[in-house]
Amino acid sequence: PLVDRLFNADETELKLARKLNIERTIIVPGNGDFQDRVYQEMGEALNSALDLLLPLGHSIITVLGGMALAKSARYLSKNLANNRELEFVPGRGALGENVKTQSNTIVQEMAARTHGEYKTLYLPEQVSEQAYNSLIREPAIADLLQDISQSDVVIHGIGLAQEMAKRRGYDSIKLSDLREKKAITECFGCFFGEDGRIVDRITQVGLQFENLSKIPRIFAFACGASKADAIKAYMPNAPHQTWLITDEGASEAILKEN
Ligand code: G3H
Repeated sequence: PLVDRLFNADETELKLARKLNIERTIIVPGNGDFQDRVYQEMGEALNSALDLLLPLGHSIITVLGGMALAKSARYLSKNLANNRELEFVPGRGALGENVKTQSNTIVQEMAARTHGEYKTLYLPEQVSEQAYNSLIREPAIADLLQDISQSDVVIHGIGLAQEMAKRRGYDSIKLSDLREKKAITECFGCFFGEDGRIVDRITQVGLQFENLSKIPRIFAFACGASKADAIKAYMPNAPHQTWLITDEGASEAILKEN
């Protein structure tokens, strides 16, 4: 069973973790670009890893959203609820128009599967600086931000820069600006270039990238060979306690390059 396997990373998982300089990787078979069953296995792997690492009692789990997590969320299971009270919190507001991939939707699904609680953040993800400064003082939002800062776990996707910009409705001028800045990946509202530097970012209510390193457990969730460069570009920034849950498609592509 997966829980047993989690104690013993195989050689490729160790190699990938070393290359990306993070604590752990879990690699499931297949390539998510073509095979949807990969998302089931990644969801089950996340479930096993949470079961292994979460303390008993109350835990706060902040979830950022995205397609990979939307497809995997339903594979969390009620065994996580044994002697635990889980609270799922969205790490950002609504991004784009697809309800399925919103962090608000994913926390509801995860809470339903694990008999947990959830909170919601019904705000557009991206706001002006002026709106940001007043929104974070709203009691309900301040309360949610407090929970985020006390998270035991953060679970996030790793986006392709251009795709994430399109989801946010960037026009062609802003898209080509991003291309010029050589943005490869996006996480937590930050666009990262090839060398891992932040080349652009948006103002968003939710988990701020600068606070990520304080979170005890972090799961990065991304698969498919098409995500290999994005994973590589983000990882120099990832706090060391990050565990990457991925597939062979991404890991083979990352490992074959120097
Ligand atoms: O911010 C990054 C996104 O959540 C990436 O998610 O590519 O799985 O949709 P996705």
